[in-house]
Amino acid sequence: MNSPNEPTPGPGPAAPPPGCPAHAAGADGLRRLYGPEADADPMALYEKLRAEHGAVAPVLVHGDLPAWLVLGHRENLEVARTSTLFSRDSRRWRDMAEGNVPPDHPLTPMTAWQPLCVFADGPEHERLRRAVTDSLSRFEARGIRRYVTRFSHQLVDDFAAAGRADLVDQFAAQLPLRVVTQLFGMPEDYGPRLVDAARDMLGGTETAVASNDYLTETLQQLVERKRATPGHDVASKLIEHPARLSDDEVREHLRVVLVSANEPTVNLIAGTLRLVLTDRRFRANLAGGHMTLPDALEQVLWDDPPMTTNLGRWATGDIELAGKRIKEGDLLILGLAAGNADPAIRPDTSASLHGNRSHLAFSGGPHECPGQDLGRAIADTGIDVLLSRLPDLRLAVPEEELTWNASLMSRPLAALPVRFTPGRLRSAKGSPAPEQAAGAELPPQRSVPSPPALADAPSRTAPGASTSRRPFRRLRWRR
Ligand code: HEM
Repeated sequence: MNSPNEPTPGPGPAAPPPGCPAHAAGADGLRRLYGPEADADPMALYEKLRAEHGAVAPVLVHGDLPAWLVLGHRENLEVARTSTLFSRDSRRWRDMAEGNVPPDHPLTPMTAWQPLCVFADGPEHERLRRAVTDSLSRFEARGIRRYVTRFSHQLVDDFAAAGRADLVDQFAAQLPLRVVTQLFGMPEDYGPRLVDAARDMLGGTETAVASNDYLTETLQQLVERKRATPGHDVASKLIEHPARLSDDEVREHLRVVLVSANEPTVNLIAGTLRLVLTDRRFRANLAGGHMTLPDALEQVLWDDPPMTTNLGRWATGDIELAGKRIKEGDLLILGLAAGNADPAIRPDTSASLHGNRSHLAFSGGPHECPGQDLGRAIADTGIDVLLSRLPDLRLAVPEEELTWNASLMSRPLAALPVRFTPGRLRSAKGSPAPEQAAGAELPPQRSVPSPPALADAPSRTAPGASTSRRPFRRLRWRR
């Protein structure tokens, strides 16, 4: 097999319209990782590719640009771990250098190089990443769980009386950024605003640029404040770190953490809630105390990983991988979901995975997700609170009616409508207040441009306390 760049012309006048169901494959029969076939059932597409090509398959991404999708578990780890051969530096992308990737290409947000840890290799990557990981590791698990508990109760308070909710929109999509903004040292009411801005920015809507500007301005203000008045928060730790990041580097790494933390954790919460609500084995096991919520999370990280692929790696030279001739400058995409289902390591996907964490959901090698413990803690504490508050939670629609949004890198659940017995509200006072009220230490805020359709932070004056029974064993922080 040759480099996918060789046989594949870009879309020209003779090329079929991308997305045309009659042309699921591009020129030379290469399958597209976008369009109807990929959107309908990406896992089925990965299995077709595996059957046709083995552990590494030539594919097309948007604009029919060629790429390699890594499908094997071992091969994914090999690529992720060997940055000397498979670089994170997108400036190596030959198609980019040759002008085949227009500025408005859908993958540009993930591939436009910036001086950030996500695009760096070797010592520069170590320098930048250490600043991020050291800053994140300053927080005690107990304190983080307190934030998660507090915000989870607040979110449930917002819909508990209604007896129905969409747990994607009203819970999963809200929780991670509320926690992260607290860790950053932002005032509490920034959480909901940033959730709106980040979702709008990544949604590619007409207001995405305005939302991006809002995010930049907010983070810039935070850096200025923390430079003047440091506190016990990620922003201050990044500023103080011996790696001596410039203010721009601090701001942009805060943005990297914010964006990296949000979508996968949202997807993990939504995917786990779906599993718990639809899979009778889990429901029965959980109630019986044999299967913990962390076990359910781990099952999702195997079977429904929050990021289905990771974009990407670029070959530093000509090399053979799983029998395919990769050329210098080729784009490789880590197939995290495909690798998790590789028959070479999971001949029987229904077999128990209890205690096995060798999935690829957090990737591997030097760029392996540094926020995985935090992501797990947000998801399992948040879901624990939710299920404790609403013990008779059930799906409001037949399982077959659930739908997913399609993208190259993830497959988020579109909505998770549920019903439950309307419950009493629980005051935020009922959960221990975070050790430090982040907003209290900040000087008065300069006004920042509001992203479009920003909701004001909801006021919460709910009395009462939860009386629900706890269907799960207490959760512990894991390293
Ligand atoms: C629980 C859900 C999460 C999942 C499934 C997840 C998954 C991933 C994956 C697949 C990568 C790419 C690694 C690579 O390039 O090979 C990554 C990178 C990263 N993640 Fe996560 N992540 C999650 C939560 C978080 C959280 C909560 C944070 C921060 C608090 C975070 C921060 C980061 C950062 C900073 C990187 C870039 C690391 C680097 O390039 O060195 N992630 N994550």
